[in-house]
Amino acid sequence: MNQLKKGKMSIDPLFQIGKVDERIYGSFIEHLGRAVYGGIYEPGHHDAGEDGFRQDVIDLVKELNVPIVRYPGGNMVSGYNWEDGVGPVEQRPKKLELAWRVLEPNKVGTNEFAEWAKRANTEVMMAVNLGTRGPDAARNLVEYCNHPGGSYYSDLRVSHGVKQPHRIKTWCLGNEMDGPWQIGHKTADEYGRLAVETAKAMKLVDPTIELVACGSSNIDMPTFPEWEATTLDYTYDEVDYISLHQYYGNTSNDSASYLAKTLEMDRFIATVIATCDYIKAKKRSKKTMYLSFDEWNVWYHSREADKAIEPWTVAPPQLEDVYNFEDALLVGSMLMSFLRRADRVKIACMAQLINVIAPIMTETGGPSWRQTIFYPFMHVSLYGRGTSLQPVVQTPAYDTNKYTDVPQLDSAVVHNEEEKTLTIFALNRHLHDGLDLEIDVRGFEHYQIVAHTVLEHNDLKAVNTKAYQPVKPHDQGQSTLQDGKLEARLPRASWHVIRLKHQ
Ligand code: AHR
Repeated sequence: MNQLKKGKMSIDPLFQIGKVDERIYGSFIEHLGRAVYGGIYEPGHHDAGEDGFRQDVIDLVKELNVPIVRYPGGNMVSGYNWEDGVGPVEQRPKKLELAWRVLEPNKVGTNEFAEWAKRANTEVMMAVNLGTRGPDAARNLVEYCNHPGGSYYSDLRVSHGVKQPHRIKTWCLGNEMDGPWQIGHKTADEYGRLAVETAKAMKLVDPTIELVACGSSNIDMPTFPEWEATTLDYTYDEVDYISLHQYYGNTSNDSASYLAKTLEMDRFIATVIATCDYIKAKKRSKKTMYLSFDEWNVWYHSREADKAIEPWTVAPPQLEDVYNFEDALLVGSMLMSFLRRADRVKIACMAQLINVIAPIMTETGGPSWRQTIFYPFMHVSLYGRGTSLQPVVQTPAYDTNKYTDVPQLDSAVVHNEEEKTLTIFALNRHLHDGLDLEIDVRGFEHYQIVAHTVLEHNDLKAVNTKAYQPVKPHDQGQSTLQDGKLEARLPRASWHVIRLKHQ
């Protein structure tokens, strides 16, 4: 117990996995809980502009540098009529929203969200309803959003005060259609047929859009991975991405196993890639299918409290997980999983962004603050842009109650050739043992360490609240670099961002 172990890593600019698509630092805002109402939108709040959007929230979203945000759901989209959310606000219907059993006032809809996205410096990733609806509503929404004018739906948009088309590029063909909880749940054959016909109609309206077909809701779904194989068999030629969703929780309070969960995530990604490539071979196709990991995060803290929420209220505090320090470590680890498969994972959306299982929290009428998971996301989003490199790693390993041979060191490396920077992300996931890491960076001549940022805390369960935010990074990481040998000390259970720059 409490030993200091040794690990080694070798990094070379030629060990390239692939260019990082910045959209892996995407996020998600659903009409759910206080994500929209009381989150991004709170008219009357002292930080809100005339349009009702909170500037303090926009500023925090900008800190995370989120390039794309999925909208409007989630489970909610499977019962959503997009027409309810456009046109004069006072004429919009208030509807029962069945997925989360709340009242949806429709004060924010497509145009308002697109405006918010512009202000937050991000793109919209739009999901269409394939639960209760199909190709007709989907193609009309593409026409409304993307057609310049001169047709019924594009002119309708113009009449709603939005002259320029939104030009939304990335569209999701429904949400979690494999899940029995989903409104309009389907078998893989039913979904595959519907998805391919919807895709064709949407691309006829705007051939420049990209489409994401629904994969499995998580790795434990009984239909995984047959669902992916069947769905792609129908849709392979028409879609560009297949989705993955995964949430984790430390439900049995076994932190050692919890911090090893990304071993499952790596396996999930590898299996979906294998399934895509199987269909590619079956179809003798030259096209490569990419992955959109468009829902991922920790989600479990709020599950009990949510059971007590009164149905049919507007924006109740649903899914308001208060994240602790160990959650932040796991979030860093999940982000590194994407970087290690940067060749195939092109989109990923942290679910979600504000209040609902989110890095950013707000108090209605009060301030906003950063949850623990804000920090690893911000680090990887800011410094993980460039080419993902494959480090060669030697690390001690150990067993937990749930997993065997868990590598103590979890890592990913990004080289930005234009900016001449090299960033090493590293997690020492052992709960007791430190790690002295020796890194061979001889391939990076004239590079020097410019910062070694650390997220650590002696209490795995420490949380950030409105009143007090003890979990935050510092720049006192211990590392030295001489003659191409970088030595870094990684205390137990700690997250590291070691940044080098050509001098
Ligand atoms: O992000 C919360 C919910 O999780 C989404 O609505 C749904 O797609 C998933 O099950």
